Order: sequence, then structure tokens, then C-alpha cells
Amino acid sequence: MSSAPTTINVPADASSLPMTLPRLYEMKRHGEPIVMVTAYDHPSARAAERAGVDLVLVGDSGAMTVLGYDSTVPVELDELLVLARAVRRGLQTPFLIGDLPFGSYEISDEQAVTSAMRFIKEAGCDAVKLEGGGETSVARARAIVRAGIPVMGHVGLTPQTSTALGGYKAQGRTATDGARIAREAVALQEAGCFSIVFEAIPTGLANEIMPLITVPVIGIGAGPAVDGQVLVFHDLLGIREGLGARFVKRYANLLEDMVSGVAAYAHDVRSRTYPAPEHGYSIDEAELTAIRAELNPDS
Ligand code: KIV
Repeated sequence: MSSAPTTINVPADASSLPMTLPRLYEMKRHGEPIVMVTAYDHPSARAAERAGVDLVLVGDSGAMTVLGYDSTVPVELDELLVLARAVRRGLQTPFLIGDLPFGSYEISDEQAVTSAMRFIKEAGCDAVKLEGGGETSVARARAIVRAGIPVMGHVGLTPQTSTALGGYKAQGRTATDGARIAREAVALQEAGCFSIVFEAIPTGLANEIMPLITVPVIGIGAGPAVDGQVLVFHDLLGIREGLGARFVKRYANLLEDMVSGVAAYAHDVRSRTYPAPEHGYSIDEAELTAIRAELNPDS
């Protein structure tokens, strides 16, 4: 993991062009790198908006980053909808994608379409993402696309089924596994996905798959040959405890800043240096005298 923070001035015209699917395809055609980040609440959405990112994902990673679960498995669609609505209120320009949580799409096409529609109707998302490129995920992606909702696929390391994959580790390191991931990506594309995430696969494998894929590919731990990159907001800003995966690059250490800030506040309260006079409200002496008279009429 590289930990060198990078300071970049926010472009003055960031957040001026609304992202659309045609614009996304144009970016792929022109080889313009696509920037995607996760967001889970209004402040993270505002940061993404102001930084001028292209795609925002209300990831089921929010289960761990903001809801405190041990994995993404337990989070419910209703919980992610609350997060997605807060993100929607903070965004104007980036394309907003809701991540279908484990258990919200696998059972039937009808279940998948119903869950996807909730992200669109109740949270104002532009699209949904689902994990996996096996038969079930491909069928559900096709059904949701047929219902008129853009779908982003996700292959490689798919955290919702990480137990079956042998844990949180890179995928596609053998010929059999790598070829399976390539077939899954092609199948998701054929099912109508507008874009596909490649997570934690060898750079060389991504290089081999890219010529087969005509839709924008967003990588996270898939090397530089893909069309864009995504990172989890809390990982890139250092809000989450721990080092994170190999592919995480830290651009800030906000958790340390948050702890120092709260500790300084606690110190000030305990030493009675906060609040200072400038943090209080004034009142005319005459009004105070009147209040005293009303509270103590006999004195
Ligand atoms: O939930 C998530 O944050 C994701 C991204 C890592 C792609 O699925």
C-alpha cells in the first residue's frame, strides 16, 4: 500500500457536466479515465460532487464502513436505501449507482427487479450494481436491464460470496479461474450491463479480458488497463481502521484527524477552556434585570 498523500487543487469547473451513459461511453471511446468512488451519506456525496468524480456508488461496503457490520452479508436493502437517499440529496452531477445487497436479488428475476426499482424510485439512483457473473447473476442482470434499469456488473472478488471464493483474496490466478472470470464478464456484457467492475484480479488477466469488453470497465485492484478506477471513500481518506487491501491508496488520514479533534474538544471541556466568551450569546443588562425581577418577584 502506498500511503503518500497527494494534494490536488479542486478544478474550478468540477461538477459542471452531468454524467450520462452516452458520456460514459464517450469517455471509454476517447480513453479518458473514469473516476468512481463510494459514498454513504450527505457529506461524502458533497465531497464527491465537489471533487468532480464521474460515478458514485452507494456500495454495500457501507455495511462495514458506516454501519459497523463485520462483512457486507447482513446489510438489508432498507438500510442501504436510507444511505442512498442521503447521497442523492448531496449529488447533482455524478451518475449514482445503488449496490444490491446480498439476498435482495438472487431468489428470482421478480425479486431482483423489485429491489432494483426501489433504488430508482425511492432513492433516485440512476442504476444498480450486482455481484457475480454466474448463471444467476447474469439472469438477474438481464431481467433488470429488460425492466429499463441500467445495471453495472461485478466480477473477480465479490465480497458477498467471499466465503465460497476462499476469503477476501485476489481471484483469477489460475488458468481455470481466470478464464471463468473472463467468461463471466462477457456474459454480463451480453446480458446488457452498461459497465462492469473488476475487483482484485491480476493486472495481466485484466489486460487479457479488456479486448473482449466494449462497455466501460471500472477496476479496483485490477491494474491500469481498465477504463476507470473505484476506491471505497473510507479507505482512500483513511477513515477506516486498519491497512485495507493491497490496492488501497491512502490520500488522507482523516480518522487520526477525527480522533485528535474529538480529544482536543474533550480536553477543552474538562479544563473549562471551552466554551470561551466568544461562543456564548449576549443579552442586554436591562432584559436580564427584568428576567431577575420576574423570577424573584419578592426580592
Ligand atoms: O461495495 C462496494 O464498495 C463495492 C466497490 C468496491 C466496487 O462494491
